[in-house]
Amino acid sequence: MSKLIMAQENGRIMGGPDKIFGVSTLAKKRIAEIGKENVVNSTIGALLDDDGNLIVLSSVIDVLKNLSPTDYAEYAPIAGTPEYLTTVKKAVFGNYQPTGYVEACATPGGTGAIRNAIQNYTKRGDIILTSDWHWSPYNIITTEIERKLNTYTLFDENQNFNYSSLDQKLNEILKIQDETVIIINTPAHNPTGYTFTLEDWDKVNEILKKAAEDKTKKITLLVDIAYLDFSGDADEYREFFSKLEDFPDNVLVLIAFSTSKGYTLYGMRCGALLCLTPNKDIAEEFKMVASFSSRGSWSNGTRASMVVLSQIFANENLLAKVTEERHKYLAILTKRGNAFMKAAKECNLKTCPFDSGFFITIPCKNADQVGEELQKSNIFAVPIGAGIRISIASISEEACKMIPAKIAEAISNVK
Ligand SMILES: Cc1ncc(COP(=O)(O)O)c(C=O)c1O
Repeated sequence: MSKLIMAQENGRIMGGPDKIFGVSTLAKKRIAEIGKENVVNSTIGALLDDDGNLIVLSSVIDVLKNLSPTDYAEYAPIAGTPEYLTTVKKAVFGNYQPTGYVEACATPGGTGAIRNAIQNYTKRGDIILTSDWHWSPYNIITTEIERKLNTYTLFDENQNFNYSSLDQKLNEILKIQDETVIIINTPAHNPTGYTFTLEDWDKVNEILKKAAEDKTKKITLLVDIAYLDFSGDADEYREFFSKLEDFPDNVLVLIAFSTSKGYTLYGMRCGALLCLTPNKDIAEEFKMVASFSSRGSWSNGTRASMVVLSQIFANENLLAKVTEERHKYLAILTKRGNAFMKAAKECNLKTCPFDSGFFITIPCKNADQVGEELQKSNIFAVPIGAGIRISIASISEEACKMIPAKIAEAISNVK
């Protein structure tokens, strides 16, 4: 980074090249030169149709278009409208009935929820823990509020959840500080597509309970469910909530909810931070601190999107329509994932363990060079440190069938 002139650094590393933006600009340039039918642009983290257009749930947009002027213009309460706060619990838990106290606070997308979780449940300078493969803005969100991000190794040598790495890192952190936030992004993890199994959750449970035997420690488990509604069967993919309900008071479960993907409301900035706890006082405290942080950062959320979600959940037919429309697109995404994984197997291309979602990651050495090599075949993908991230959300099933062999070739050319 070049030296700041008037601005203060405050522990942040800013101004480095934005890899996603850089590769995506190159892809657009190539599209302008040779036409979009000749380019695979797998850099975009949004669901696109086979022609590269953003998929928008028309059933959601119909509700948006029918809002009254005050639904757009009026401030929402800081924590969110009362209807939204009830609705968001239904949107998150679906048919699962949590037994503990659940409270919610509206946030601008999942990003706002992650920010408020870290701000309120750790101190300035603290270390936050997530997996080595992770959504890179976690690092920006933590350093922006003067915390640090540390990682454990997500997969062991057999490509299973590496629970001993989580255990070890958590204990290392708790030796130097009394509180931390652990971020787990599941189901359909970005960037690998991994989904924590119920057995993985048992291990997480064990690790957290053991660490929490020391009552001077406060552990917050933040589950980032950004891709929940684009993972698979709604009930099956919510079964893991049952594993989050048996913690002692010094382990707090928070959930970062987002309407960006599940309702294609990316630009409406609508999400929520929820808590799940058997302790009423901790739930009350959550409401207070989450609202305070909202007031002190963005103030109120977007009323229009809160009203949209509330109206959808208040009307059975509307909800059925949205669910049905989403299913149609989830089926397309699933087909793309299956096609990619089948083709990868056929050419012996090793991927991170993929279950579902928008992304598949191929671990490889010299990822930057592999990315450049792929560009020679007009395939654009984002190098993410120890691998290449392919957004299957943004490319066709045909492209998913075709590119694994090209990636395998690029890796062997770079070696
Ligand atoms: C893993 C993950 N978490 C959270 C988000 C938050 O998205 P938003 O702030 O748009 O809700 C994203 C968006 O790409 C994501 O990939």
